[in-house]
This record gives sequence, C-alpha cells and structure tokens, in this order.
Amino acid sequence: MNQRLNPPMIPFIDVAAQRRRLGGAIDAAVARVLGHCQFMLGPEVNAFEAELAAFCGAKHVVTCASGTDALVLALRAKGIGAGDAVICPSFTFCATAEVVVLVGATPIFIDVDAATFNIDAKGIVGAAAAAKRAGLLPKAVIPVDLFGLAADHVAVADAAKGDNLFILDDAAQGFGATFNNRRLGTFGHATATSFFPAKPLGCYGDGGAVITDDDATADIMRSLRMHGQGSDRYDNVRIGLASRLDTIQAAILTEKLKIFPDEIASRDRVARRYSEALSDVVTTPSVPAGMSSVWAQYTIRVAPGKRDALAIALKAEGIPTAIYYPIPLHRQQAYKHYPVGDGGVAVSDRLAGEVISLPMHAYLDEPTQDRIIAAVRRALVS
Ligand SMILES: Cc1ncc(COP(=O)(O)O)c(C=O)c1O
Repeated sequence: MNQRLNPPMIPFIDVAAQRRRLGGAIDAAVARVLGHCQFMLGPEVNAFEAELAAFCGAKHVVTCASGTDALVLALRAKGIGAGDAVICPSFTFCATAEVVVLVGATPIFIDVDAATFNIDAKGIVGAAAAAKRAGLLPKAVIPVDLFGLAADHVAVADAAKGDNLFILDDAAQGFGATFNNRRLGTFGHATATSFFPAKPLGCYGDGGAVITDDDATADIMRSLRMHGQGSDRYDNVRIGLASRLDTIQAAILTEKLKIFPDEIASRDRVARRYSEALSDVVTTPSVPAGMSSVWAQYTIRVAPGKRDALAIALKAEGIPTAIYYPIPLHRQQAYKHYPVGDGGVAVSDRLAGEVISLPMHAYLDEPTQDRIIAAVRRALVS
C-alpha cells in the first residue's frame, strides 16, 4: 500500500504549538489585564516597551496598532509627505510602499540582491537622482529585513549619507535578527516591526512598534499614536491617529518575548537542516557573514518552469508552500505608476518567478523536516 496516500497536512506556521508551550503563562497574563481593566495603555504596555528596548539595545520603543502604523508613525514624525520621495525595494510586502503613499509621499522602487532578497544599496543614489529629476525631494529610504534576514545596513547607511536620507528599517519580518552581532532596532534612524500573529514575534491580533534612539522622534510618535496629543489627551497639537497596542496584546507579548531567543535558535536549526539537505537541488537562502536571520520564511529558488510542479507535488504529500511574492510592487496595479530607480528592478522580476517558501516555525520536529526534505527532493530529482 502507498504510505503517502492521504498524508496528514503539515501546518505552514504552527501557532498552536507555541500556544501549547505557553498556554498557562499567557492565560495568567491575560487574566491580570482582565482583572485591572486598563485595556488601553495599561501598565503591561510600558513594561513590554521597556523589555523590548532592552532586548534590542535601543533607547525607545513606541508600540502601536500594527506594523503598517509603525511605519506611518515614523514617516509622519519626520514630516515626510507631499513632494517627498521615499526609496523602497520592489520585492517586499506591499505595506513597505503603502505607507509612503498613505503619508502623501512618492515611493521610488529599487532592486534587491538575488542572493539575500534584500535591498541592493547600490540603487539608492540613482533613485535619489531619479527623484530629483522628477521634481521630488528624496527624503528617506526603507530597507526591509526580508524573510527574517538583516539587510546590509552598513551599505544602506553609506549610500544614504550623500542625500541625508532618513533610514527607516522595516523589520516587520526580521525583528530579532542580528547585523554585526547587534539585534535589529538600532540600525538607521528608526526601526518598525509588526506583531502580526504569523511574524516571528507575533501577538494574538494586530500590533506593532517603532524603535528609535532619538528622543524627539519618540516623543512625536507617542503624541501621534494618541490623536496628536500634547500635554494631555484633550490638548491636540498635531493631527495624529488612534494607534495603540492593546494592553492584552502587550501582556501576551511579554510572555512570548521570554522564549523568543530560544525560538529563534530552533528556527535557525530547522533552516540549517533544510539548507544542508537541499542545497544540491535548489538555491537555498544565503546568510552573509555578520548577519543572522529569524527565518520569518524559509525561501528557496527553483527554475520558473519547475515551481508550480513542486508546489503541486508537495501539496499532494500534505506539505503546504507559499509564494512570497508573486508580483513585485512595481508591477502591482496600485503601484505601477510610481517611478523605478535608475538601475531598474530586473532581479525583483526574476525572483517573483522563482521563489517558493517551505513550512517554517520553531516547533517543526526533525521527522517532519525530513518528510519535507524528502518530498522536495522526490519532486525535483527525477
Ligand atoms: C515587510 C513588512 N512590512 C510591513 C508589514 C506590516 O505589518 P502589519 O501587518 O502588522 O501591519 C508586514 C506585515 O506583513 C511586512 O511583512
């Protein structure tokens, strides 16, 4: 009998496994909030902000309602808006560029590096020049730590210097990763992250944070997240938004942060095993020296003609896959009329046709990893 008939479906991300590990502690943390009823900006929010700041070695953490809002808060705090250009990679989740448009500025798309999937800093100067030619002021760049891997923050900082660009690190996928042995959070002028449940450090709903060492930026973002409040909430000194992290989510995140380093190590072990077993049949993700990944995704590259067949074969064996991202932003209906930097975006186009992500989470045991590895090899080596 065929043993692979109706195999059990593997979860792509197993939020329930983590819930089983942390169940009691999280239930108790939520019960404490239900007990004191300070659901907005309660004591757990301040405590979590302090813990997160200590975790990444930064001075300020300003939590908010989502990773998207975190990016908006940082751009708004710097006064970026109409007439300004913000340079973004094209191969990323839409929120990276969406926030630029939301604040009234113009995104300029540049390419990524084929090996790391991260922003190719060589495109930054040309994109700033293209912005000026279009009558825009180049004001900021948003490197993304895509799939969990730190971007090359030294190269970005060097390239951003000439035009004095504000560097906003989009660490929604990479928070917890390191660059030159320092956790993300202090590269660039501000770092945004997301606590969406599927993220490496996720909560049980929406949530986000902006991290910065700059006192003035942090003060403005605290005001912005509370409708632009001044000395108190009925003193409105600027136009803001309603963007707070719920106290219950902060209480949950505090418990999750305690096991985050252990979970990062587990994810790294899974990624290493995948890479050792698959590097002869697919292009496995590369982690340059001095960087680490939290493996928000484990993304391989296969020849475009083989990708669909691989996904179908794995699905038949109960193994889900995902394609992040099938269409780069410069080709999306909502973004295709925005400019592309001088170097073009050919790598983003190519990657969109080749990438495919395998199941990845901290609770993926070795027998399950082996099942995935064997299925990928069976599908590709015939
Ligand atoms: C790179 C990137 N930036 C920003 C965001 C936005 O985060 P959120 O979903 O919390 O608004 C995400 C989330 O999916 C993301 O992957």
